[in-house]
Amino acid sequence: RGPRRGSPAAPPRVRRDAAARLAAEQEVENLSGLSPNPEKDIFVVRENRTTCLMAEFAAKFIVPYDVWASNYVDEGHNTSRGPEASWRLSRIQFTYDTSERTYFKDAVSPGKHTASSHRLSALVTPAGRSYECQAQQTISLVSSDHQKSVQLLLSEVRLQPFDIPADFVFSEEHKCPVDQREQLEETLPLILGLILGLVIVVTLGIYHIHHKLTASQVQIPRDRSQYKHMG
Ligand SMILES: *[C@@H]1O[C@H](CO)[C@@H](O)[C@H](O)[C@H]1NC(C)=O
Ligand SMILES: *[C@@H]1O[C@H](CO)[C@@H](O)[C@H](O)[C@H]1NC(C)=O
Repeated sequence: RGPRRGSPAAPPRVRRDAAARLAAEQEVENLSGLSPNPEKDIFVVRENRTTCLMAEFAAKFIVPYDVWASNYVDEGHNTSRGPEASWRLSRIQFTYDTSERTYFKDAVSPGKHTASSHRLSALVTPAGRSYECQAQQTISLVSSDHQKSVQLLLSEVRLQPFDIPADFVFSEEHKCPVDQREQLEETLPLILGLILGLVIVVTLGIYHIHHKLTASQVQIPRDRSQYKHMG
């Protein structure tokens, strides 16, 4: 869909009223300053004074765009708004402006673009649980700028909409498969180490018992033979 020019004044006003009403009911608290990691975002969304979403994540966008000149730059990074979450993350929209020269240098026809997810089904988590994933995952968005593919890199994610037991308290976590595998890889050497230690102890024990038994078995006949000789 191309940009619409000269649209009537009524639709924007309606949209603004809706936004104002939404703002009255919904409150977004930005607690990102609490994290020691400057890349991490922490947001709490409240509706009618009830916390309905808690989200922690580090987000990075990789945005391809067309440039002038020969020193080709194909990446722009930006950290921005949190995902609009239903409990399965089904939609992400990211707006960016290639005329912002801090992120985009020498852009051809600079302007605002929107990158959206297409048939997204991410962070799928059982109801009443929080989603946790330390590992990085990539979500592809399609941009209004010539259908370019924008990559969203998410890491250190902890997210929970609804069923929140208390403010700033997440329910039991549901870990993403990558984190589960990493946890196994961390505990496996420990388990193997314990088993090896146990095998060594058992081996030493058996050796010790065997040594004692053979020593006493050998000694008895020798004593007897000595008796025989004496006799
Ligand atoms: C949230 O707060 C952090 C640091 O306090 C700030 O850098 C960031 O721009 C804020 N984000 C939004 C969307 O307001
Ligand atoms: C919040 O209050 C508004 C109006 O009072 C109501 O329409 C809305 O459903 C309420 N939302 C929740 C999550 O209770």
